[in-house]
Amino acid sequence: MSIVDLAALGESFTRDPFPVYARLRAQGPVHRIRMPEGGTEAWLVVGHEAGRAALTDPRLSKDWDKASPHLGLGTVSAGRHMLRVDPPDHTRLRKVVAREFTPRRVDDLAPRIQKTTDLLLDRMLAAPDGRADLVEALAFPLPITVICDLLGVPDLDRAPFRAWSNDALSATDRAVRKAAADAMAQYMRELVEEKGRHPGDDLMSALIEGSRNDPDGLSQDELVGMAWLLLVAGHETTVNLIAGGVLALLTHPDQLAALRADLDLTEQAVEEMLRYEGPLETPTYRFTTEPVTLGGTEIPGGGELVLVALADANRDTTRFAAPDRFDITRDARGHLAFGHGIHYCLGAPLARLEARIVVRTLLERCPDLALDVDPAALTWRQGMMIRGPQSLPVRFAR
Ligand code: HEM
Repeated sequence: MSIVDLAALGESFTRDPFPVYARLRAQGPVHRIRMPEGGTEAWLVVGHEAGRAALTDPRLSKDWDKASPHLGLGTVSAGRHMLRVDPPDHTRLRKVVAREFTPRRVDDLAPRIQKTTDLLLDRMLAAPDGRADLVEALAFPLPITVICDLLGVPDLDRAPFRAWSNDALSATDRAVRKAAADAMAQYMRELVEEKGRHPGDDLMSALIEGSRNDPDGLSQDELVGMAWLLLVAGHETTVNLIAGGVLALLTHPDQLAALRADLDLTEQAVEEMLRYEGPLETPTYRFTTEPVTLGGTEIPGGGELVLVALADANRDTTRFAAPDRFDITRDARGHLAFGHGIHYCLGAPLARLEARIVVRTLLERCPDLALDVDPAALTWRQGMMIRGPQSLPVRFAR
């Protein structure tokens, strides 16, 4: 099978990958690709049905030790965590934190999320020139504040952590990714040690305390991994849902008007934002443990890297009518923005709650919110994993 060189497409693919994926989908569900990230060779699964099948296929392992050495992958994460392991370890790790992320537990966070949103908007709307970068002012600080509160790390060294997290996940240069991942790993180890010495009334302290004398508890490396995963999820995902979602609204005035006319549509609008402009273009890596035939194409065993194009599954014409249309009134259920199967996003209830509160409050408080940039001039996050505008200049009346 010939290789599709996505790395060679450069900036145009980063900006708008959807037509590229759609063309591949028209040819079949599985393609051999070269990734923008370091030119790594991988297998890309496109389309909704094949994507769901791949996400639940036990022959595709999340264990990085199964990766073929020829890929030359350096780890980007710290510690041992849910997105790096298979059952039974995955089941054990997930069980320990799953109770913290039930819809009811998460709903209890609503007043805190509302208060933080209000404070951030107070600050944003005080800008004397009536202009702001919505990423800096709102989309970035809200989710990170919420996850830091939950984990009990209010004094996270935010500036370097943000840069490391960005580089580890999105840099296309391998050396930059590795340096960022190493720095973050060191920082996470110190953070967990410090929490162990000074426990508080928070999730991380509870995990550390609970693991001390429990044979099923988390090892030191797993505690580091858990903290890493939750903090990175807090940095890299909801941010882009808010920024990408608000951008979709501002570039579709009819949809914005429909939402303004009935803010009770916010819940539905957020689902459509997840479908149309989900933050994870492809999820975390999977490796073949044996040959896997998908849609008539055999992917060899032996640790080949498999990526599932979630962004394409959500724009598959066989699943969603007129999928390239942003339509907040459609039934967007069935999208794969949060993944599928045993690794389905643990933070989905929290991400949804944050996005609903932010979108609603933003529209209520900014009746004339508008884009302050030509959308074609926006720059997008590099790499195939995270999708979102790097900044979102907006203006509003004072
Ligand atoms: C809009 C925001 C978010 C999106 C689109 C998103 C998306 C995803 C996706 C697609 C996966 C599956 C990855 C895979 O199968 O390779 C996942 C897993 C996960 N997400 Fe999220 N996520 C979001 C927010 C969050 C938040 C806020 C948290 C934590 C507070 C979180 C925690 C996790 C965890 C722990 C996993 C791993 C679950 C497992 O392996 O069992 N996510 N997320």
